[in-house]
Amino acid sequence: MTEQKATNVTWHEHLVSKDERFKLNGHKGAVLWFTGLSACGKSTIANAVDYKLYLAGKHSFVLDGDNIRMGLNKNLGFSPEDRTENIRRIGEVAKLFAHAGTFALTAFISPYRDDRDKVRAVLGANEFIEIYVDASLEKCEERDPKGLYKKARAGNLPNFTGISAPYEAPTNPELVLDSNTKGIEELADEVIAYLQKNGYLAV
Ligand code: ADX
Repeated sequence: MTEQKATNVTWHEHLVSKDERFKLNGHKGAVLWFTGLSACGKSTIANAVDYKLYLAGKHSFVLDGDNIRMGLNKNLGFSPEDRTENIRRIGEVAKLFAHAGTFALTAFISPYRDDRDKVRAVLGANEFIEIYVDASLEKCEERDPKGLYKKARAGNLPNFTGISAPYEAPTNPELVLDSNTKGIEELADEVIAYLQKNGYLAV
């Protein structure tokens, strides 16, 4: 649990409620939490879903590992403690997006089950959709778009997820995407179908 440092702070209720914002947008807000190994396809799928939602007139936004680490989280590295703080901050930011009536699509390795569960816990019921992008280590290593697996295998990249740092796959995710055998379009459609089926795309 992150310690509350500030004292003399008071929670302010908003005048416009979350449900009123959902009504205004014509759909609900939620966090679509993509998790999986580096190069499993998280960001690409999240962006494909984002584009489909945009074309359908729904409000959404992608929060992506590499990008957030250049700004908001530029003071964090890849130690277990820093990854935990990375995910905690992203969880809080994603919650703001969701409660503002937007689908927040997050694409972070988020290797620790406990960190993901903590984000789930700060969100309301049905507001956290955990999506496991399942691609084998072999597949990710074969893709290796940034050459990081190669670097890690050569011993030049410490704490690299899947090689020298752990990845804890979700035990009970809302959705599993088989990125070993299926393409981006098909997987993005599976996410849209989930949202449709579970009533997120309308109020
Ligand atoms: S997380 O573990 O804290 O969730 P995050 O998704 O933000 O990671 O960042 C992962 C991205 O950072 C990878 O896709 C890769 O491009 C880059 N990266 C650099 N070093 C590492 C490392 N040691 N382990 C994993 N990813 C790394």
